[in-house]
Amino acid sequence: MTCPADGRAFFLLDLMALFHLVDFQTPYEYLGHQHPQKALHMCGIIGYIGQKNCVPIILEGLRRLEYRGYDSAGIALVSKDSLSVEKKAGKVSELAKHLGNGSSTLSGSLGMGHTRWATHGAPNDVNAHPDWDAQKKIAIIHNGIIENYLSIKTKLLREGHVFHTDTDTEVLAHLIQSMYERGNDLSTAVRLALSEVDGTYGLVVMSVHEPDKFIVARKGSPLLIGVGDGENYVASDASAIVSHTRHVVYLEDGEVAVVTKDNIETTTIDALKVHKTVEEVTLELSQIERGGYDHFMLKEINEQPETIRNAMRGRLLVDEGNVKLGGLQNMMGRLLSARRIVITACGTSWHAGLVGEYMLEQIAKIPTEVEYASEFRYRNPLMNIDDVVLLISQSGETADTLAALREAKGKGSTVLGIVNVVGSTIARESDGGVYIHAGPEIGVASTKAFTSQLTVLALITLMLARARGMSQEDGIVLAKEIASLPDKVQHILKNTDQIKAIAEKYKNAKNFLYLGRGANFPVALEGALKLKEISYIHAEGYPAAEMKHGPIALIDENMPVVVIVPRDGIYDKVISNIQEVKARKGRIIAIANEDDTEIANMAEHVIRIPRTYGFFGPILNIIPLQLLSYYMAVARGTNVDQPRNLAKSVTVE
Ligand code: G6P
Repeated sequence: MTCPADGRAFFLLDLMALFHLVDFQTPYEYLGHQHPQKALHMCGIIGYIGQKNCVPIILEGLRRLEYRGYDSAGIALVSKDSLSVEKKAGKVSELAKHLGNGSSTLSGSLGMGHTRWATHGAPNDVNAHPDWDAQKKIAIIHNGIIENYLSIKTKLLREGHVFHTDTDTEVLAHLIQSMYERGNDLSTAVRLALSEVDGTYGLVVMSVHEPDKFIVARKGSPLLIGVGDGENYVASDASAIVSHTRHVVYLEDGEVAVVTKDNIETTTIDALKVHKTVEEVTLELSQIERGGYDHFMLKEINEQPETIRNAMRGRLLVDEGNVKLGGLQNMMGRLLSARRIVITACGTSWHAGLVGEYMLEQIAKIPTEVEYASEFRYRNPLMNIDDVVLLISQSGETADTLAALREAKGKGSTVLGIVNVVGSTIARESDGGVYIHAGPEIGVASTKAFTSQLTVLALITLMLARARGMSQEDGIVLAKEIASLPDKVQHILKNTDQIKAIAEKYKNAKNFLYLGRGANFPVALEGALKLKEISYIHAEGYPAAEMKHGPIALIDENMPVVVIVPRDGIYDKVISNIQEVKARKGRIIAIANEDDTEIANMAEHVIRIPRTYGFFGPILNIIPLQLLSYYMAVARGTNVDQPRNLAKSVTVE
């Protein structure tokens, strides 16, 4: 296997991420990867072909993929000319239990496993993947959505096919079977079937007809092949296989590969040969393990001093009062002539964008707007070629954010990304951007990615402010303040006992209100989101002054109200809002500065935070709110890292 620009670019990206030399790779190498975005699953894929018994390898891989969010899991093996499939609704542990927890008689050296997040058909045992064809000779696992599955199904029903699930994936299995029965070999049957499909897929097919291979294909949903010695792996995500091999081949959209234990042959869907390079994954195993913490979320909260430092390492030039961001260097002209910056994102990343709006407008004096990506993509926004659109995404794969990117690009705007996952689709399709270098974020509720996104937004702001005339003296003051943030976060993280006690006290509350003003209004939104996500307590974030237009009706002695009240220019205004809550007997939990001597008279609990420059305050103020939601969830016994109904990477519309 030799080859193309794609491969080299990936490798470079990883190296660059490792050494923090530059940010996004020049985008133009990636233009060939563009494809219309459709909705995708967020499911996980793992497969093994070689000499070993694949069952433990697949179960381990499925466990490593759990962080993606899923509602059922399954495994299929080809051995002794028969196909065995076992699948269960619920967690991978249910599947492992069903298989006899290690005492399984199931064994074979060609097999694959899947974690499914339901789209077509309820999350139950039957609809879980793998699916199979009418003869149960061909098995398939599939991330993505076959959009024209109904018309294909109607045609196959007419030909006499009988379906046993509600999934779009089963239809594809039957379509492959029908192509195979016309005298094609397995890989041709898969390619022909895919040429009839409208939709997205990362998929793996295996069959008792040709029991020495996988056929894998990708369009719009990531897929890679792990290269071993006399064995090969397939996965939707390197974390599933990195304990076995670091050598991988990334499949690109429109590619199909035949994977045997000793060989990988890649073609396009039209059977044109494609040369691929084997690349090295830099992900460390310890990075995707819990490292002694009870939950990934707690580990990730505690990593923040380091991850914030990583976000600024090699970029923040304190003595010069300036910032150097390699991935934006070629974009400076466009950024400086931009009429406005439009930030678009989803979830926590959108909250980071709202804080970014304050930073960019107030410090760099650039008009900035923030919009949910899911709204931006469909409202046909009026865009200009001198607009810069900034996409923020931890995963770099969120379907709505990616669609917003393509919408903006289609309208001629410059698109830039602030992304965590190196080489992800948003990173690759952006005109430039900045990696946040937070490392893998496994807990579904985003924590360290948020503070790293804010740090990068602060860096971009300082860089633009200086380029637009801010003095070096002022630049140095801001740069020093940014540099001091990791130590301040470390200091806040020591305060867990107080926060644990507060969580214990309010763990049975039915509702929570979070209030903040200015740049801390998005912190209120993010604090409320964290609580909702993992403790399932209803929580609302509000701009403190807006409370009197509605939420004040909810306040009584049972309502905990978290107020972010740093000693800034609007301190007195927030204090007035606190008085309004207090007058209605609300229970005030204040996030306040260490030197605030007045607040203790008004609040039932005061969580102390070191001072910083106002617009950087959110990076500190969110930390106790992350801890509060974490300890509330632990006190309530919920599944902290994999909250119900949520997924880490929402690659579905
Ligand atoms: C999901 C996750 C959130 C995340 C959001 C946006 O809802 O559970 O934690 O903030 O997607 O994801 P992104 O990867 O684009 O930042």
